[in-house]
Amino acid sequence: MRQRLLSEGANELSYEIREIVKKADYLKKLGVDISWENIGDPIQKNHKLPQWIKDVVSDLVKQDDAYSYCPSKGMLETRKFLAAQTNAGGGVKITPDDICFFNGLGDAISKAYQFLRDTSRVIGPSPAYSTHSSAEAAHANHEPLTYNLDPANHWYPDLDDLYNKIKYNPNIVGILIINPDNPTGMVYPLVMLQRIVAMAKEFKLFLIADEIYINITYNGARAYALAEIIDDVPGISMKGISKELPWPGARCGWMEYYNRDKDEDFDRFCQALDNAKMIEVCSTKLPQLAIPKIFGDPRFKAYRDQTNQDIGKRSKIIADILHTVPQLTFNETFGAFYNTIIFREGTLNHNQKMKIRDPQVKTLVEGWVSQQNIALDKRFVYYLLGAKGVCVVPISSFCSALQGFRVTLLEENEETLVRTFTSIRDGILEYLNS
Ligand SMILES: Cc1ncc(COP(=O)(O)O)c(C=O)c1O
Repeated sequence: MRQRLLSEGANELSYEIREIVKKADYLKKLGVDISWENIGDPIQKNHKLPQWIKDVVSDLVKQDDAYSYCPSKGMLETRKFLAAQTNAGGGVKITPDDICFFNGLGDAISKAYQFLRDTSRVIGPSPAYSTHSSAEAAHANHEPLTYNLDPANHWYPDLDDLYNKIKYNPNIVGILIINPDNPTGMVYPLVMLQRIVAMAKEFKLFLIADEIYINITYNGARAYALAEIIDDVPGISMKGISKELPWPGARCGWMEYYNRDKDEDFDRFCQALDNAKMIEVCSTKLPQLAIPKIFGDPRFKAYRDQTNQDIGKRSKIIADILHTVPQLTFNETFGAFYNTIIFREGTLNHNQKMKIRDPQVKTLVEGWVSQQNIALDKRFVYYLLGAKGVCVVPISSFCSALQGFRVTLLEENEETLVRTFTSIRDGILEYLNS
């Protein structure tokens, strides 16, 4: 008999942000017009890059050397540029050798956990962004290990919960933060980051900060980068261009290693990550060539500031529509481009409904919600999809015991935005009062 093919860890791989698309696609085939509120892709939501950025890319496309491989860690000029940017922010100092490029942060994330010992665990926030939680759990052949973000306290991390989990679990070797956070839109306050650094010092842990949204803040917030606050703790910052440029299809992200010289074991871990990239040869080259030309252009800051301001404006529109529903816990957002909205305890049950006019759509949705043990928020999400054509992601799919859903703040057309969120609100009210 052949041995089993799948590892235990493979059961931990799931990505509801895309799974829900399969359901929405069924409904689309039946003629339902879908508003895609599930995926954080600004381009899919009609964001247009300024012409000067497209010109930079099209000039590069005409260069012969853009088509070759590049160094395994990435283009030296680009790593020099990024190291200088980090060093200009104050705090820890790095060299171009402390940077390694990946094919998007998704690639960086799966490598980061893959090369940890399987008994070594990284604790991350819940609600959890599944690319991290699934990859970490798959490496450990166990469920994800999480600390709570608290919807009753602006989604800030429950630091006592984090401290106790670290104290009583010697397998924990690292703490993950996602700052600004996906899926909550929370920006970590400086004092809380300082407490996390203090915990890392006390228990000799390393830190991972996913900073893919670090330059996407609004409504007066500022996100403090890991490099600014890490002091002498070993850590990795993960950055990329998918959200900030935004150019998600480029598949380009990088890691910055901090304080390698302070911890031999951590240094070997970083070396293993570099080696893992080396055996693949290298990551996507064209976006690396574009980075210094785009981020180094004085027009970039003005463009990013305006884009952030637009996200902030949309966050207010969404707040105006949804924060009045008494059965919801609604938090204002300050970074990234998501909001996670929670149903207060006891408000959802297995008998609630929304009216679905089309009989075929109704039958399909009723089939989905009749699954045994379906999470209550998933049930709501399926009804919202069938009745209103709005595709959101249930929060129970983000390793959370809370019931709610994630939306994006990306719809650029204000009329469509208002229409979509008014439908969500009407759907909620109908469902809760049914
Ligand atoms: C927090 C976070 N990290 C990483 C990623 C993946 O980014 P990339 O497109 O670079 O793979 C995402 C994408 O949504 C994200 O939200």
